[in-house]
Amino acid sequence: MSKKNYSLLLKNARLIDAGQNLDKQVDILLGDGKVVEVADVISSAAEQVLDLDGAWVMPGAIDLHVHLREPGFEYKETILSGAQAAVAGGFTSIACMANTNPVNDSAAITRFILEQARLAPAKVLPIAAISKGMAGDELVEMGDLVDAGVVAFSDDGKTVANSKLLRHALEYASLFNKPLLCHCQDNALFANGVVHEGLVSAAHGLAGIPSLAEDVDISRTIMLAEYLNTKVHICHLSTKTGVYLVRSAKARGVKVTAEVTPHHLFLDERAVVDLAYRESLDESLKPAKLCYNTATKMSPPLRSVDDVVALRAALADGTIDVIATDHAPHEATEKAVEYELAPFGVVGLETAVALGLRLIQEKVLTPLELAARLSSTPAAILGLNDRGTLAPGLAADLMIVDPELMWTVDPEKFYSKARNTPFSGWQMRGRVVKTIVDGKIVFNL
Ligand code: DOR
Ligand code: ZN
Ligand code: ZN
Repeated sequence: MSKKNYSLLLKNARLIDAGQNLDKQVDILLGDGKVVEVADVISSAAEQVLDLDGAWVMPGAIDLHVHLREPGFEYKETILSGAQAAVAGGFTSIACMANTNPVNDSAAITRFILEQARLAPAKVLPIAAISKGMAGDELVEMGDLVDAGVVAFSDDGKTVANSKLLRHALEYASLFNKPLLCHCQDNALFANGVVHEGLVSAAHGLAGIPSLAEDVDISRTIMLAEYLNTKVHICHLSTKTGVYLVRSAKARGVKVTAEVTPHHLFLDERAVVDLAYRESLDESLKPAKLCYNTATKMSPPLRSVDDVVALRAALADGTIDVIATDHAPHEATEKAVEYELAPFGVVGLETAVALGLRLIQEKVLTPLELAARLSSTPAAILGLNDRGTLAPGLAADLMIVDPELMWTVDPEKFYSKARNTPFSGWQMRGRVVKTIVDGKIVFNL
């Protein structure tokens, strides 16, 4: 069997593809790593035929915000383990943030990441830092980094506090037509907060992170992009006012896009102290007494119920363009400490698509809207025109979903090296059962 001509025929698939505005039963022929044909019935011979019997086919999910920890923190995650977690969750392309050690602020580091990614089952797309060492003082050499293959720029984990530097970053990134992904946080207002400033911080004496810390910085970021007439992308939107700011900026024609994480869509501040209120949790796993759960600590923090309602409405009406995981692996012992001392961050690659399916079940999104938020829109934001939709000639990157499969989230079974999920024990309906990258099956449940 010559590898080049390898072909795979998917029969009786429900193709849900926002890029082609298709939600219908079809056959899909893949060959030579690409989509060859999508038609009501295809009878050409193929080396392998899979009868999907109505299972869903969606373009592979594209996550424009993950942390892979290599180089420097390989004990938390490697490029390989992160990519394995990605394909197990239906993600075929993942863009990895620059807050490694050393920071990805040079072509040499970018080339190292791409080299490490050669054997990875998912496509790994490096994001470069905005400032050298993410120190916030001096711009990176953007041209060199673009030549080396970065898809975007971000100091994620930190804000770019210096507005003049942020201005220049927006100007240069737009010259190279690469997006700038902004982690918006006013450092003085954020201070030493560990949870959302609200009900839970007040009742439990935990230092609060006010919504204002995010909102003030989103305003500044949008004002810069509006003034300069450049694109800008806001990471992990978590507040109602943030939603208002993005919505009104879009209405004025500002070229702003925004992402939301699954955890900000499904959890609110109460999860910090009480996992038991969630009806989804298996009885046997509900804690006997109140306890803090460091798997709920991330930046930005889980906000109020009102914020969650606003985020869901914004995702539905397109104010929020994409779902991104902010997959942030940490080692178990690092999280097994007092809440104040635990690092910010939760993993997300292996639960995000199933939570997306839950958004369909909860009538927040239609299947086509979910495909847009997970695949075609992130591809467009990153300027990847060879993927994100399954039109003939494009990459055969896709996930096969059994929308009825019942399963329980068990972090011990994760491909990720890390287990820090706030969704442990959640009962899910619908799961990725196969993932295909460049026409090859790279994950099989
Ligand atoms: O929760 C977070 N974790 N937020 C960030 O901005 C950074 C990330 C990390 O790198 O762990
Ligand atoms: Zn961030
Ligand atoms: Zn992040």
